[in-house]
Formats: sequence, structure tokens, C-alpha cells
Amino acid sequence: MDYSIWLSVCYTVILCSPLIAAQQFELRFHICTDNYTYNANSSYPSNLNATLSSLYENASRSDGFGSISVGKNSDRVFALFQCRGDDSPESCRGCIKTAREEIKTRCPNYKEAIIWYDRCMLRYSNRSIFSVREESPKAYMWNINDIGNAIDQNQFNSNLVGLMNQLITRAASSSNFFAMGATNGTAFNTIYGTVQCTPDIFPSECRKCLSGRVNEIPSCCNGKVGGNVLTPSCSIRFETYPFYTAPPAPPPPASSPSPQTPPPTSLNPSGERKASSRTILYISVPTSAFVVLFFSICYYCYVHKKAKKANSAMKWGNGIENMERNLSNI
Ligand SMILES: *[C@@H]1O[C@H](CO)[C@@H](O)[C@H](O)[C@H]1NC(C)=O
Ligand SMILES: *[C@@H]1O[C@H](CO)[C@@H](O)[C@H](O)[C@H]1NC(C)=O
Ligand SMILES: *[C@@H]1O[C@H](CO)[C@@H](O)[C@H](O)[C@H]1NC(C)=O
Ligand SMILES: *[C@@H]1O[C@H](CO)[C@@H](O)[C@H](O)[C@H]1NC(C)=O
Ligand SMILES: *[C@@H]1O[C@H](CO)[C@@H](O)[C@H](O)[C@H]1NC(C)=O
Ligand SMILES: *[C@@H]1O[C@H](CO)[C@@H](O)[C@H](O)[C@H]1NC(C)=O
Repeated sequence: MDYSIWLSVCYTVILCSPLIAAQQFELRFHICTDNYTYNANSSYPSNLNATLSSLYENASRSDGFGSISVGKNSDRVFALFQCRGDDSPESCRGCIKTAREEIKTRCPNYKEAIIWYDRCMLRYSNRSIFSVREESPKAYMWNINDIGNAIDQNQFNSNLVGLMNQLITRAASSSNFFAMGATNGTAFNTIYGTVQCTPDIFPSECRKCLSGRVNEIPSCCNGKVGGNVLTPSCSIRFETYPFYTAPPAPPPPASSPSPQTPPPTSLNPSGERKASSRTILYISVPTSAFVVLFFSICYYCYVHKKAKKANSAMKWGNGIENMERNLSNI
């Protein structure tokens, strides 16, 4: 079974700024798998509840990643979460708390769902989702600010891809499958990037997943100053302002010195969005329903794709080591 839905959503930083102060975690997107609903009288809902509670309880002590399964037979629930590699345990726990509540609200009665925040991801299903590389559903989001003609876009793109490839190499050989860094975009800006895979897959799978995401940058975010490509197993992000928490002592790896000089509007990406539906034009048409949510202010846009799979394995938290914990973000 394989179907997909592409969504596009935009949101703006500016309008959302006020909201953000109150809301620490920026929701990126969520997807409830079509037609996968449970009977309220089954034990699925209570298993799901217990599963999400355990994930939350363990969020601050699991080094940024955790998975658990509760129940048996058809009512068994599998769930996992991952926090961004530069996040602190406290922030991770907060993000998972928010994600848990939001996913319950946004995907009521669904057996399978996924929700992404800027700093964490949470998903659950009635099938095993552990230790398997899954590249769908997928979300594309882009910063609505254009690179602009004043800047050499080819240079920007080539530096961006160079940075991403460096990060992929570092992430795949790191213990938490996360890497962040910066490089010159052009003479006028710096590109900051992060790449991350869930630590339950093999390094080779991580590399493959991330390379696939980087290859999608043109589809996702061509000509934009920032973008996210999100999938269950891996995600990438780039911006022209420092959106991650830079390591204190040793400055970010990448070759670039240039400090921040965020383009006009993009300081603080926050933008909460919501969705509304509209079909995305530039991408091959998927087979099923299209829904596009459009929540005012556009800052980013997403595209999703869904699909299914099945597999095995599970355990609690595979290690993720926070590269550091300096939470000053946002
Ligand atoms: C979901 O169910 C509806 C109604 O039964 C059906 O038309 C639709 O094709 C289903 N969607 C998927 C993705 O199976
Ligand atoms: C649960 O409810 C469904 C209909 O909503 C019904 O078909 C089913 O028999 C019920 N199961 C139990 C165990 O009550
Ligand atoms: C879910 O779990 C929480 C505590 O973890 C409990 O307070 C709540 O009543 C449970 N809800 C359901 C529907 O089981
Ligand atoms: C962490 O998860 C394990 C496995 O489900 C569970 O037994 C344990 O109670 C959780 N820790 C806390 C503090 O809830
Ligand atoms: C999960 O739920 C869906 C929808 O009810 C069902 O079609 C599928 O067979 C279930 N998968 C497993 C592994 O139980
Ligand atoms: C980055 O830009 C600065 C300032 O323009 C320049 O001095 C430096 O050489 C550049 N670094 C690279 C790696 O291009």
C-alpha cells in the first residue's frame, strides 16, 4: 500500500512572532495516515496513551531519541521520538510534551500519525516503525524569502550542497546521527545547516536518506534562503541565519567565519502554521487526496507524501548525545 498526499503550507515569521514567544516550539507539520482509525472501544487508545506517556517520561533522559511499544496483537502501538541533536534534555522533554498533546488533538482516533517540530519529531503506528529507513511521508517547507537576483544563486546553491554533503558525512559517522555547521553562501551571507537521522538505522541508510533529501532541495526550496525537507528517518534544514545552538567552545566546524547577518525578515524563524489545502503544482502528482492548508503568513511551505511499510525491532532509546546544551534558542 502506498499513497501519497502533498501539502503545501506557508507561514510567516512576522505575524507569528508574538505567538512564538508564548509557544516555544514551532510546529512544522503533521500527518494522520488516511483511513487508519481505531475503534474507541478497543484497547488501542489506552495503549497509545500509555505509549506517548512513556515517551514523554523518558524524553529527558534518553539522549534525544526513544522508542517503545505497548500492547499486543492488533492493538499494539509502536512509537518513537527524536529531538534535534543540539537540543538540551529539558527542551527535548518540553518539545515532546507539546508534540504529544498536539498529535492527540490533531489526529484523534488515528492509528498512525507523525508530527514534526523545529526541534523534535514524534510518530506512532500500529506497525513496527523501528530500525527501518522510511522516507515518506515527506514534508517540504521553504522560507518564503527569495535569495534574490542580487546574489549569485549558482554560487549559493553550490555552497549549500557542499555544506550539506559535509554535514552528511559527519552525521553518518557521529553517535547521534546529527551534524550542524555553516559556510559562506555568497559574499553577502552565510548558510547554516543541520542534518539528522534517527539513530535506529544504519549509517549507510542514514547517508542514503540524507542524500535523498539534499537532492530534493531544488524541488523544495530552489531560490529560497531557507528550507526543510522532513521524513520519518531523516531531515535537513538550512537557513541564512544561525537557527541552531552553536557549540560554545569550538566554533562550528564549517569553514566559514562570517557571523550572522540574517537577511531582513528571517531572524527567528518561528512561525506556527496551520495548514489548509491546496495542491502543490511543481511536484509530480500523487495518487490520493490533496489537502493543503494555508495558514496565513507564509514563511515556509510543506509538502507531504505518505506511504506505508512494515518492519521490526524495538527498544528504548538508542543513544544520542547532545553535542552541547546551550539553550538560548529563540
Ligand atoms: C479512504 O477511505 C475512503 C472512503 O472509504 C476511500 O475513498 C479512500 O480511497 C481511502 N483512502 C485511502 C488512502 O485508502
Ligand atoms: C466496538 O465498536 C464497534 C463499532 O463501533 C463494534 O463493531 C465492535 O463490536 C465493538 N467491539 C467491542 C469489543 O465492543
Ligand atoms: C492517558 O494517560 C494519562 C496519564 O498518563 C491519564 O491521565 C489519562 O486519563 C489517560 N487518558 C486515557 C484516555 O486513557
Ligand atoms: C521509560 O520507559 C520505560 C519503558 O516503557 C518505562 O518502563 C519507564 O517507566 C519509563 N520511565 C519513566 C520515568 O516513565
Ligand atoms: C494497522 O491498521 C490498519 C488500518 O486499520 C490495518 O489495515 C493494518 O493491517 C494494521 N497493521 C497492522 C500491522 O496491524
Ligand atoms: C567567506 O567569506 C569571507 C568574507 O567574504 C571570506 O573572507 C572567506 O574567505 C570566505 N570563506 C570561504 C571558505 O569562501
